[in-house]
Amino acid sequence: MAENFFSSPLVKDFLSLIETNLKGYLDSHVKTILDIGNYITEGGGKRLRPLLVLLIAKGGNVEGETLKNKVVPLAVGIEYIHTASLLHDDVVDEAPTRRGKPSAHKVFGNAVAVLTGDYMYANALYLFSRYGNKKMKEVVSEAVKKMAEGQVLELKKVGELIDEETYFQIIDGKNAVLFAAAAAVGALNSPCLSFRWEDFWRFGLHLGRAFQLVDDALDYEGNAKKVGKPTGQDLKEGKTTYPLLSVLDKLGDQKEIKKVLLNGDEQEVSKIVNLVRKLGGVDNTKKRAREELFRAREVLKSNKLNGEVGNLLNSLLDFVVERTY
Ligand code: FPP
Ligand code: MG
Repeated sequence: MAENFFSSPLVKDFLSLIETNLKGYLDSHVKTILDIGNYITEGGGKRLRPLLVLLIAKGGNVEGETLKNKVVPLAVGIEYIHTASLLHDDVVDEAPTRRGKPSAHKVFGNAVAVLTGDYMYANALYLFSRYGNKKMKEVVSEAVKKMAEGQVLELKKVGELIDEETYFQIIDGKNAVLFAAAAAVGALNSPCLSFRWEDFWRFGLHLGRAFQLVDDALDYEGNAKKVGKPTGQDLKEGKTTYPLLSVLDKLGDQKEIKKVLLNGDEQEVSKIVNLVRKLGGVDNTKKRAREELFRAREVLKSNKLNGEVGNLLNSLLDFVVERTY
Protein backbone atom coordinates (compact mmCIF):
# COMPACT_ATOMS: atom_id res chain seq x y z
CA MET A 1 0.00 0.00 0.00
CA ALA A 2 1.14 3.51 -0.84
CA GLU A 3 0.80 4.90 2.70
CA ASN A 4 3.39 2.38 3.91
CA PHE A 5 5.98 4.33 2.01
CA PHE A 6 5.73 7.72 3.71
CA SER A 7 5.01 6.25 7.15
CA SER A 8 8.08 4.01 7.11
CA PRO A 9 10.67 5.04 9.74
CA LEU A 10 13.46 4.64 7.18
CA VAL A 11 11.75 7.00 4.71
CA LYS A 12 11.04 9.48 7.54
CA ASP A 13 14.71 9.37 8.59
CA PHE A 14 15.84 9.91 5.00
CA LEU A 15 13.37 12.76 4.53
CA SER A 16 14.67 14.58 7.57
CA LEU A 17 18.29 14.08 6.39
CA ILE A 18 17.30 15.45 2.98
CA GLU A 19 15.56 18.54 4.44
CA THR A 20 18.48 19.42 6.72
CA ASN A 21 21.03 19.01 3.99
CA LEU A 22 19.03 20.84 1.33
CA LYS A 23 19.36 23.87 3.60
CA GLY A 24 22.92 23.04 4.68
CA TYR A 25 24.41 22.91 1.19
CA LEU A 26 22.65 26.13 0.14
CA ASP A 27 25.48 28.38 1.25
CA SER A 28 25.60 31.46 -0.95
CA HIS A 29 26.83 34.80 0.38
CA VAL A 30 24.20 36.51 -1.75
CA LYS A 31 21.02 36.95 0.24
CA THR A 32 18.66 36.90 -2.77
CA ILE A 33 19.97 33.45 -3.76
CA LEU A 34 19.33 32.16 -0.25
CA ASP A 35 15.88 33.78 -0.19
CA ILE A 36 14.82 32.24 -3.50
CA GLY A 37 16.49 28.90 -2.74
CA ASN A 38 14.73 28.70 0.63
CA TYR A 39 11.45 29.92 -0.84
CA ILE A 40 11.33 27.11 -3.36
CA THR A 41 12.71 24.36 -1.11
CA GLU A 42 10.42 25.33 1.78
CA GLY A 43 7.52 25.34 -0.68
CA GLY A 44 7.36 21.57 -0.24
CA GLY A 45 7.83 18.81 -2.74
CA LYS A 46 7.73 15.08 -2.27
CA ARG A 47 11.54 14.63 -2.48
CA LEU A 48 11.04 11.44 -4.46
CA ARG A 49 14.22 11.81 -6.47
CA PRO A 50 16.63 12.17 -3.51
CA LEU A 51 14.72 9.40 -1.70
CA LEU A 52 15.38 7.14 -4.68
CA VAL A 53 19.11 7.83 -4.47
CA LEU A 54 19.24 7.01 -0.76
CA LEU A 55 16.91 4.00 -0.82
CA ILE A 56 18.62 2.30 -3.73
CA ALA A 57 22.08 2.91 -2.23
CA LYS A 58 20.83 1.44 1.04
CA GLY A 59 19.26 -1.50 -0.81
CA GLY A 60 22.69 -2.05 -2.35
CA ASN A 61 24.31 -2.36 1.10
CA VAL A 62 25.65 1.17 1.54
CA GLU A 63 25.44 1.87 5.26
CA GLY A 64 26.05 4.34 8.08
CA GLU A 65 28.67 7.01 7.64
CA THR A 66 29.19 6.37 3.91
CA LEU A 67 25.50 6.84 3.34
CA LYS A 68 25.37 10.05 5.38
CA ASN A 69 28.62 11.65 4.24
CA LYS A 70 28.79 10.57 0.65
CA VAL A 71 25.36 9.60 -0.67
CA VAL A 72 23.30 12.33 1.03
CA PRO A 73 25.17 15.15 -0.82
CA LEU A 74 24.51 13.35 -4.10
CA ALA A 75 20.82 13.01 -3.23
CA VAL A 76 20.76 16.74 -2.42
CA GLY A 77 22.49 17.46 -5.74
CA ILE A 78 19.72 15.59 -7.59
CA GLU A 79 17.04 17.65 -5.78
CA TYR A 80 18.94 20.88 -6.61
CA ILE A 81 18.83 19.92 -10.30
CA HIS A 82 15.10 19.35 -9.98
CA THR A 83 14.66 22.70 -8.19
CA ALA A 84 16.74 24.52 -10.81
CA SER A 85 14.61 23.01 -13.55
CA LEU A 86 11.40 24.14 -11.80
CA LEU A 87 12.70 27.70 -11.38
CA HIS A 88 13.49 27.81 -15.09
CA ASP A 89 10.34 26.01 -16.16
CA ASP A 90 8.04 28.43 -14.35
CA VAL A 91 9.67 31.36 -16.14
CA VAL A 92 9.39 29.61 -19.50
CA ASP A 93 5.74 28.64 -18.83
CA GLU A 94 4.95 32.00 -17.19
CA ALA A 95 3.33 29.88 -14.45
CA PRO A 96 1.59 31.93 -11.76
CA THR A 97 1.77 29.26 -9.01
CA ARG A 98 3.93 26.33 -7.92
CA ARG A 99 3.15 23.96 -5.06
CA GLY A 100 0.15 26.09 -4.12
CA LYS A 101 2.14 29.31 -3.71
CA PRO A 102 2.99 32.14 -6.14
CA SER A 103 5.93 30.91 -8.26
CA ALA A 104 9.37 32.25 -7.36
CA HIS A 105 9.61 34.44 -10.46
CA LYS A 106 6.30 36.11 -9.54
CA VAL A 107 7.68 37.02 -6.12
CA PHE A 108 11.31 37.83 -6.96
CA GLY A 109 11.32 38.54 -10.71
CA ASN A 110 12.35 36.51 -13.78
CA ALA A 111 16.03 37.43 -13.93
CA VAL A 112 16.99 36.47 -10.38
CA ALA A 113 14.79 33.35 -10.47
CA VAL A 114 16.62 32.07 -13.58
CA LEU A 115 20.03 32.97 -12.14
CA THR A 116 19.24 31.23 -8.83
CA GLY A 117 18.32 28.18 -10.91
CA ASP A 118 21.80 28.42 -12.50
CA TYR A 119 23.35 28.67 -9.04
CA MET A 120 21.50 25.57 -7.81
CA TYR A 121 22.46 23.61 -10.90
CA ALA A 122 26.11 24.62 -10.45
CA ASN A 123 25.87 23.62 -6.79
CA ALA A 124 24.70 20.18 -7.90
CA LEU A 125 27.68 19.92 -10.27
CA TYR A 126 29.96 20.83 -7.38
CA LEU A 127 28.44 18.13 -5.13
CA PHE A 128 28.81 15.52 -7.87
CA SER A 129 32.42 16.57 -8.55
CA ARG A 130 33.22 16.33 -4.86
CA TYR A 131 31.30 13.18 -3.86
CA GLY A 132 30.45 11.36 -7.07
CA ASN A 133 32.46 9.30 -9.56
CA LYS A 134 32.97 9.64 -13.31
CA LYS A 135 30.05 7.37 -14.27
CA MET A 136 27.65 9.29 -12.00
CA LYS A 137 28.71 12.58 -13.58
CA GLU A 138 28.17 11.10 -17.04
CA VAL A 139 24.71 9.76 -16.16
CA VAL A 140 23.61 13.02 -14.54
CA SER A 141 24.90 15.34 -17.26
CA GLU A 142 23.33 13.13 -19.91
CA ALA A 143 20.03 13.46 -18.03
CA VAL A 144 20.24 17.26 -17.84
CA LYS A 145 21.00 17.44 -21.60
CA LYS A 146 17.86 15.36 -22.23
CA MET A 147 15.84 17.60 -19.88
CA ALA A 148 16.78 20.69 -21.85
CA GLU A 149 16.09 18.87 -25.15
CA GLY A 150 12.69 17.76 -23.85
CA GLN A 151 11.81 21.30 -22.87
CA VAL A 152 12.83 22.75 -26.23
CA LEU A 153 10.91 20.03 -28.06
CA GLU A 154 7.84 20.68 -25.92
CA LEU A 155 8.03 24.40 -26.65
CA LYS A 156 8.41 23.83 -30.37
CA LYS A 157 5.30 21.63 -30.33
CA VAL A 158 3.11 24.10 -28.46
CA GLY A 159 -0.17 24.56 -30.31
CA GLU A 160 0.30 21.31 -32.26
CA LEU A 161 -1.25 17.88 -31.98
CA ILE A 162 1.65 15.49 -31.37
CA ASP A 163 1.98 11.70 -31.72
CA GLU A 164 2.72 9.22 -28.96
CA GLU A 165 6.40 8.94 -29.85
CA THR A 166 6.92 12.70 -29.52
CA TYR A 167 4.91 12.74 -26.28
CA PHE A 168 7.24 10.14 -24.71
CA GLN A 169 10.32 11.99 -25.96
CA ILE A 170 9.02 15.09 -24.17
CA ILE A 171 8.07 13.41 -20.89
CA ASP A 172 11.27 11.38 -20.77
CA GLY A 173 13.11 14.69 -20.92
CA LYS A 174 11.02 16.72 -18.56
CA ASN A 175 10.66 14.05 -15.93
CA ALA A 176 11.67 10.46 -16.48
CA VAL A 177 15.40 10.90 -17.13
CA LEU A 178 16.01 12.65 -13.80
CA PHE A 179 14.25 9.81 -11.97
CA ALA A 180 16.39 7.39 -14.03
CA ALA A 181 19.58 9.27 -13.14
CA ALA A 182 18.61 9.39 -9.44
CA ALA A 183 18.05 5.63 -9.33
CA ALA A 184 21.28 4.98 -11.26
CA VAL A 185 23.29 7.22 -8.90
CA GLY A 186 21.91 5.29 -5.93
CA ALA A 187 22.95 1.99 -7.53
CA LEU A 188 26.37 3.29 -8.58
CA ASN A 189 27.20 3.77 -4.90
CA SER A 190 26.67 0.10 -4.18
CA PRO A 191 29.66 -2.16 -3.58
CA CYS A 192 27.59 -5.22 -4.68
CA LEU A 193 28.95 -6.66 -7.89
CA SER A 194 25.55 -8.11 -8.78
CA PHE A 195 24.00 -4.63 -8.71
CA ARG A 196 23.54 -3.39 -12.27
CA TRP A 197 23.08 0.39 -12.35
CA GLU A 198 21.57 0.18 -15.84
CA ASP A 199 18.67 -1.87 -14.41
CA PHE A 200 17.98 0.82 -11.84
CA TRP A 201 18.23 3.50 -14.51
CA ARG A 202 15.40 1.68 -16.31
CA PHE A 203 13.48 1.36 -13.04
CA GLY A 204 13.69 5.15 -12.57
CA LEU A 205 12.76 5.80 -16.19
CA HIS A 206 9.55 3.73 -15.95
CA LEU A 207 8.69 5.24 -12.58
CA GLY A 208 9.29 8.76 -13.95
CA ARG A 209 7.14 8.11 -17.02
CA ALA A 210 4.33 6.84 -14.81
CA PHE A 211 4.73 9.88 -12.58
CA GLN A 212 4.40 12.28 -15.52
CA LEU A 213 1.47 10.35 -17.02
CA VAL A 214 -0.35 10.67 -13.69
CA ASP A 215 0.60 14.36 -13.56
CA ASP A 216 -0.96 14.78 -17.00
CA ALA A 217 -4.07 12.86 -15.88
CA LEU A 218 -4.38 15.11 -12.80
CA ASP A 219 -4.25 18.15 -15.05
CA TYR A 220 -7.52 16.91 -16.55
CA GLU A 221 -9.24 15.56 -13.46
CA GLY A 222 -7.41 16.80 -10.39
CA ASN A 223 -8.52 18.95 -7.53
CA ALA A 224 -6.76 22.27 -8.25
CA LYS A 225 -6.22 22.98 -4.57
CA LYS A 226 -4.61 19.62 -3.85
CA VAL A 227 -2.46 19.60 -6.98
CA GLY A 228 -1.24 23.13 -6.25
CA LYS A 229 -1.95 24.47 -9.73
CA PRO A 230 -5.08 25.06 -11.82
CA THR A 231 -6.52 22.20 -13.89
CA GLY A 232 -6.74 22.37 -17.68
CA GLN A 233 -3.41 24.21 -17.64
CA ASP A 234 -1.68 21.97 -20.22
CA LEU A 235 -4.37 22.52 -22.83
CA LYS A 236 -4.45 26.24 -22.03
CA GLU A 237 -0.66 26.33 -22.55
CA GLY A 238 -1.15 24.63 -25.94
CA LYS A 239 0.32 21.28 -24.83
CA THR A 240 -0.98 17.98 -26.15
CA THR A 241 -0.67 15.44 -23.33
CA TYR A 242 -1.67 11.78 -23.06
CA PRO A 243 -5.32 12.23 -21.97
CA LEU A 244 -6.03 14.26 -25.12
CA LEU A 245 -3.77 12.15 -27.31
CA SER A 246 -5.49 8.94 -26.26
CA VAL A 247 -8.95 10.08 -27.37
CA LEU A 248 -8.02 12.11 -30.45
CA ASP A 249 -9.64 9.69 -32.88
CA LYS A 250 -12.92 9.94 -30.94
CA LEU A 251 -12.94 13.71 -30.77
CA GLY A 252 -14.06 14.35 -34.32
CA ASP A 253 -13.08 17.73 -35.71
CA GLN A 254 -9.36 18.11 -35.02
CA LYS A 255 -9.34 21.59 -36.54
CA GLU A 256 -11.38 22.83 -33.59
CA ILE A 257 -9.01 21.18 -31.08
CA LYS A 258 -6.04 22.79 -32.82
CA LYS A 259 -7.75 26.15 -32.60
CA VAL A 260 -8.27 25.73 -28.86
CA LEU A 261 -4.64 24.55 -28.45
CA LEU A 262 -3.42 27.67 -30.19
CA ASN A 263 -5.69 30.21 -28.63
CA GLY A 264 -8.53 28.79 -26.57
CA ASP A 265 -10.40 30.90 -24.07
CA GLU A 266 -11.36 29.64 -20.60
CA GLN A 267 -14.72 28.31 -21.78
CA GLU A 268 -13.41 26.47 -24.86
CA VAL A 269 -10.60 24.89 -22.84
CA SER A 270 -12.97 23.65 -20.17
CA LYS A 271 -15.33 22.25 -22.83
CA ILE A 272 -12.51 20.13 -24.31
CA VAL A 273 -11.27 19.11 -20.85
CA ASN A 274 -14.74 17.79 -19.98
CA LEU A 275 -15.04 16.01 -23.30
CA VAL A 276 -11.64 14.33 -22.90
CA ARG A 277 -12.65 13.16 -19.42
CA LYS A 278 -15.97 11.82 -20.69
CA LEU A 279 -14.28 9.91 -23.51
CA GLY A 280 -11.99 8.13 -21.02
CA GLY A 281 -8.80 10.14 -21.55
CA VAL A 282 -7.98 10.14 -17.84
CA ASP A 283 -8.56 6.39 -17.47
CA ASN A 284 -6.46 5.64 -20.56
CA THR A 285 -3.64 7.69 -19.09
CA LYS A 286 -3.73 5.92 -15.73
CA LYS A 287 -3.81 2.57 -17.52
CA ARG A 288 -0.73 3.56 -19.51
CA ALA A 289 0.94 4.66 -16.25
CA ARG A 290 0.22 1.23 -14.74
CA GLU A 291 1.97 -0.40 -17.72
CA GLU A 292 5.08 1.64 -16.95
CA LEU A 293 4.87 0.64 -13.29
CA PHE A 294 4.61 -3.02 -14.27
CA ARG A 295 7.93 -2.65 -16.10
CA ALA A 296 9.46 -0.95 -13.06
CA ARG A 297 8.28 -3.83 -10.84
CA GLU A 298 9.91 -6.34 -13.19
CA VAL A 299 13.27 -4.65 -12.56
CA LEU A 300 12.75 -4.94 -8.80
CA LYS A 301 11.94 -8.63 -9.14
CA SER A 302 15.21 -9.37 -10.90
CA ASN A 303 17.43 -7.39 -8.49
CA LYS A 304 17.69 -8.37 -4.87
CA LEU A 305 17.60 -5.35 -2.57
CA ASN A 306 18.78 -5.45 0.99
CA GLY A 307 16.26 -5.46 3.89
CA GLU A 308 12.97 -3.64 3.47
CA VAL A 309 14.00 -1.49 0.49
CA GLY A 310 12.41 -3.74 -2.14
CA ASN A 311 9.02 -3.53 -0.39
CA LEU A 312 9.35 0.21 0.08
CA LEU A 313 10.10 0.78 -3.58
CA ASN A 314 7.05 -1.28 -4.47
CA SER A 315 4.88 0.91 -2.24
CA LEU A 316 6.43 3.98 -3.84
CA LEU A 317 5.21 2.64 -7.18
CA ASP A 318 1.73 2.28 -5.66
CA PHE A 319 1.88 5.88 -4.50
CA VAL A 320 2.77 7.13 -7.96
CA VAL A 321 -0.43 5.84 -9.49
CA GLU A 322 -2.73 6.34 -6.48
CA ARG A 323 -1.69 9.91 -5.72
CA THR A 324 -4.11 12.79 -6.04
CA TYR A 325 -1.48 15.56 -5.71
C1 FPP B 1 7.97 20.71 -15.77
O1 FPP B 1 7.05 20.34 -16.72
C2 FPP B 1 9.32 20.63 -16.42
C3 FPP B 1 10.42 20.16 -15.84
C4 FPP B 1 10.41 19.63 -14.46
C5 FPP B 1 11.71 20.12 -16.60
C6 FPP B 1 12.31 21.46 -16.80
C7 FPP B 1 13.65 21.35 -17.46
C8 FPP B 1 14.39 22.38 -17.82
C9 FPP B 1 13.94 23.77 -17.62
C10 FPP B 1 15.72 22.14 -18.47
C11 FPP B 1 16.81 21.76 -17.50
C12 FPP B 1 17.34 22.90 -16.75
C13 FPP B 1 18.16 22.84 -15.65
C14 FPP B 1 18.68 24.09 -15.06
C15 FPP B 1 18.54 21.60 -14.96
P1 FPP B 1 5.59 20.92 -16.73
O2 FPP B 1 5.63 22.35 -17.12
O3 FPP B 1 4.76 20.03 -17.56
O4 FPP B 1 5.18 20.68 -15.24
P2 FPP B 1 4.56 21.69 -14.20
O5 FPP B 1 3.12 21.64 -14.44
O6 FPP B 1 4.96 21.11 -12.86
O7 FPP B 1 5.15 23.02 -14.45
MG1 MG C 1 5.53 24.09 -16.16
